[in-house]
Amino acid sequence: MTDRLILGIESSCDETGVGIVRLGPDGAVELLADEVASSVEEHARFGGVVPEVASRAHLEAMLPTMRRALDGAGVELADVHSIAVTAGPGLAGALLVGVSAAKAYAAALGKPLYGVNHLAGHVAADTLQHGPLPKRCLAMLVSGGHTQLLLVEGLAHSITEVGSTVDDAAGEAYDKVARLLDLPYPGGPPIDRMAARGDRCAIAFPRGLTGPRDNTYDFSFSGLKTAVARWVERCERAGEEVPVADVAASFQEAVADVLTSKAIRAAKDLRVDTLVISGGVAANSRLSGLAAERCAEAGIELRVPRPRLCTDNGAMIAAIGAHLVAAGREPSPLDLSTVPGLPVGTVQIV
Ligand code: KG4
Ligand code: ZN
Repeated sequence: MTDRLILGIESSCDETGVGIVRLGPDGAVELLADEVASSVEEHARFGGVVPEVASRAHLEAMLPTMRRALDGAGVELADVHSIAVTAGPGLAGALLVGVSAAKAYAAALGKPLYGVNHLAGHVAADTLQHGPLPKRCLAMLVSGGHTQLLLVEGLAHSITEVGSTVDDAAGEAYDKVARLLDLPYPGGPPIDRMAARGDRCAIAFPRGLTGPRDNTYDFSFSGLKTAVARWVERCERAGEEVPVADVAASFQEAVADVLTSKAIRAAKDLRVDTLVISGGVAANSRLSGLAAERCAEAGIELRVPRPRLCTDNGAMIAAIGAHLVAAGREPSPLDLSTVPGLPVGTVQIV
């Protein structure tokens, strides 16, 4: 069998992504194009994503982003074998733009359409950089909307949730704490930079759900966010200047400590020896640093895709599409619906 080109379309949140991958006859997946148009700046003054603004931005960005991806890969739409699109989870209106575009391309070109799970795409992104995953691995997905531990036993076969956040996602905690510290949105990058100048042991912020009776694999970040808020308020009441770098470093340490210790606990309990970390927060310097230290101690192989593949993009959707095609999966129906609350176990809409 010859090479097959898989086109991926992503529009679940504030990034319009179009990616193209080549699926080789041996199942190898190679990245050819990864174009992203972000509306993040349009949301910045609101301190979070405004769904209507995101939908409108997807509509405007879809065709130019598609054009750039095709030109970048040096291919034509006619060369494409299959089209994969994020069907969920995500913002309803935003998802609808990508799915409508994908349906139009699939119908006009007579190509198979795969409605896929955004979260499975985040895990698949790693295969574009580090090659195939082992038969069993643990994935920790840390983004603005999700914080989950997933047992992955074949991307196209079985993804099971082992634990997740009971309140805020890790990225959401970064965004909220940035607001408390008067740092811009999205909060991850400025907190990461600020933390580099602070003392991570300065303030002992709480580690959520780490007590003996707590669920070992679930996360909670809302108590941490409240603790930071109280700490900042106390400084202000006392007329003291808020030591922003120390607060950022100590907050970041609490997040990285909890994420890495729970991921390693789960990997050991489930007897898997590979941990993949993906999603926007995987770009965090302390998280990847601490994960590397602790994985090395525990004899676990750590895989963290480069930041560009960690944040939302179309290449990761093309990648999960390629894994489904390689596994011989039937396409999704052309009248498939978007599913804003799609559970992680459903890798493809059938
Ligand atoms: O995966 P993503 O691009 O979008 C989704 O939420 O699906 O993740 C965005 C999140 C934001 O909350 C942002 O603050 C966070 O990832 N983030 C970071 C860093 N870069 C982005 N968090 C911590 N450290 C970073 N360096
Ligand atoms: Zn995402």
